Amino acid sequence: MRFCGLELAHPIVNGSGTFDAIAARRAFGDALLEAFPFSAFVSKTITLAPRDGNPPPRLWETPAGMINSIGLPNPGLAGYLEHDLPQLAQLPVPLITNVMGPTADEVGRLVEAIGERDEIAAIELNVSCPNVSTGLDIGADPESLAALVRAVRPLTAKPLIVKLTPNTADVAAVAVAAEAEGADAVSLINTLRAMAFEPRRGARARPWLGGGSGGLSGPAIRAVALAQVAAVARRVSVPIVGMGGVASGEHAWELLGAGATLVAVGTQSFRDPAAGARVATELKSLQNTQKPSTRVNMTEAQVEVDTNSVDSS
Ligand SMILES: Cc1cc2nc3c(=O)[nH]c(=O)nc-3n(C[C@H](O)[C@H](O)[C@H](O)COP(=O)(O)O)c2cc1C
Repeated sequence: MRFCGLELAHPIVNGSGTFDAIAARRAFGDALLEAFPFSAFVSKTITLAPRDGNPPPRLWETPAGMINSIGLPNPGLAGYLEHDLPQLAQLPVPLITNVMGPTADEVGRLVEAIGERDEIAAIELNVSCPNVSTGLDIGADPESLAALVRAVRPLTAKPLIVKLTPNTADVAAVAVAAEAEGADAVSLINTLRAMAFEPRRGARARPWLGGGSGGLSGPAIRAVALAQVAAVARRVSVPIVGMGGVASGEHAWELLGAGATLVAVGTQSFRDPAAGARVATELKSLQNTQKPSTRVNMTEAQVEVDTNSVDSS
């Protein structure tokens, strides 16, 4: 299949920050390369300067998901290019590098530097970053997002994927702005802003996570992802990378039905590092075995085909 000019073996990729390919290579050796679980690899978010991330604790398990407050630890642009890129370039699939910055100038410097590297097939812009002047997430506001994409789009010929935030009133309006300014694709959903409080009793409940709040992911957000992908698919014609709570081929199949072209597996990979490969296999067999079913929105012609097949069996 093709996505933004890239030839991919199947539609399952990883969600940024949820699969450490360098650590996995250390753990599984070349076996990882022989059975790589994704058809493209998306790096964790890279910022211009190195970041240590948030103070611990960084994770909290909810009844149906996980809140993380990792805080985007990363080696910075120079560290990524020097240390991570040579290792990620050995993966047997196209590499997509995810970048983020608080200003268009900073994002532009990242996009330009990443754009010069042949080992990198595409760039994903993480826009869940506070705008330094307004304090609002850049990706929460169509105008801020449009200004950012307008500024950085001319700086690279590589495919540009804008990773939308779900923490906005109208995600489709933001997607429309990204497409209008030249994004080649959009990806969604990122984590939903969330909090957890210390389980200990005391005079006053206190936030658990070192960063105060974090982002909810996993099964709890899958229904939100389906609704947001469907809403975006109705308004844009660029391809969509859908994600949020995917743990099976059926979940991926539903996101494709909502309008996604690719599906990313995120939190599930923490439970099972081979989840991506399993989801891809399950999806393929589901797509091959799907039979027409009686759906409320079927056309008369389809109902006739169904009725015929029932009659003749
Ligand atoms: C531990 C963790 C780290 C993440 N790091 C990043 C990141 O660096 N950049 C990014 O754009 N999204 C990041 N995400 C968001 C995921 O890529 C994905 O959008 C989100 O988790 C929803 O998918 P899921 O429910 O399958 O995990 C992270 C998510 C988790 C759980």
